[in-house]
Amino acid sequence: MEIGIPAEAKGRQALVAATPETVKTLVAQGHGVTVEAGAGERAHYTDDAYRIAGAQIGDAAAAFGAQIVLKVASPTADELPLMKRGAVLAGMLDPFNTENAQRLAAAGVTAFALEAAPRTTRAQSLDVLSSQANIAGYKAVLVAAHHYPRFMPMLMTAAGTVKAARVLILGAGVAGLQAIATAKRLGAVIEASDVRPAVKEQIESLGAKFLNVAYETDEEREAAQGVGGYARPMPASWLQRQAALVHERAKQADVIITTALIPGRAAPTLISAETVRAMKAGSVIVDLAAGRGRVLNGHRGGNCPLTEPDKVIVTENGVQIVGYTNLASMVPSDASALYARNLLDFLKLIITKEGVLNIDLADDIVAATLLARDGEVTRKA
Ligand code: NAI
Repeated sequence: MEIGIPAEAKGRQALVAATPETVKTLVAQGHGVTVEAGAGERAHYTDDAYRIAGAQIGDAAAAFGAQIVLKVASPTADELPLMKRGAVLAGMLDPFNTENAQRLAAAGVTAFALEAAPRTTRAQSLDVLSSQANIAGYKAVLVAAHHYPRFMPMLMTAAGTVKAARVLILGAGVAGLQAIATAKRLGAVIEASDVRPAVKEQIESLGAKFLNVAYETDEEREAAQGVGGYARPMPASWLQRQAALVHERAKQADVIITTALIPGRAAPTLISAETVRAMKAGSVIVDLAAGRGRVLNGHRGGNCPLTEPDKVIVTENGVQIVGYTNLASMVPSDASALYARNLLDFLKLIITKEGVLNIDLADDIVAATLLARDGEVTRKA
């Protein structure tokens, strides 16, 4: 089949949907691959490297005009008309964004949103949320260390002893666990919390302390089990007790990294403005839910309502709040490498060994990720 790899639209997105490594595999499988000139530039994959891997270098029209188009973000209004009706599009297409799904359906493309893959063992190798959250969790700690005006590790020097930074991590899913591991390597002292009780052991095995907000009712216990590996919104009673504990721990913290998300809903508020006011000058919050929280005063915050997407703000009491929404894109080479492998594994589900397209809706991953087909939106947001 003809597979196209367009360059991502100019902006913050530095990723590319295929690397020379994955192109080589696709070519070995008998496919023709066209990479748009410069597509890998920001991730440091050169046109020459793609050429050596067996790709043709073409323009945007050639890459978007392929039978299968691999993208990172959804095509823009300028890009979508370059796709052929009936062509396959796979990428991070924002499955809860109904308007976007309708736009893709109207263009007649068969669109797969990889973020919608189920959290099952078979889907692990193509789980883009995991591959990218892992990187975001790592980078969040490095960004925090960069803004933090002190050392992270405990140091004994001739000029005196430096205390280790206290890091609080809220939400211990893929990003949070990687943040714990990374902060640990930097020598910080770490506490972490999550709604799902299953993560206690994982947090402790990485060397962090688990902050326990006990469940007091069956409703709380049941909500905490989540669904399909994901968290569900917790009852207000539990959230209040969590907020009180977070408030106390935040006063002691030097760095807070928040990663709490609930698919298809606004991210929960975990650090109130009042808690931020109680924090130490020079402390740093990195909010991975930036731009995905509740709307307050006309802007969408994150796990903290004061967070401003893609900005670093400093509060009156000297707390720095980092709201970067593109942390994975700040590690573009590896983020692309893992993402491209996710796509390669996804293609195995829709292309037969003989190299023919076969969209089998009996396959739970194919059915869950299919967003639009034959002019219709096929997935409920
Ligand atoms: P996510 O990105 O949707 O959420 C991040 C974390 O925030 C989750 O751990 C969630 O429980 C937590 N959270 C939500 N509300 C919270 C609150 N009010 N307070 C504190 N924490 C809160 O989740 P992610 O990281 O994508 O995955 C969550 C889990 O799914 C993983 O830890 C794992 O157990 C499972 N998973 C399974 C996979 C598989 O089997 N293929 C692949 C990836 C994840």
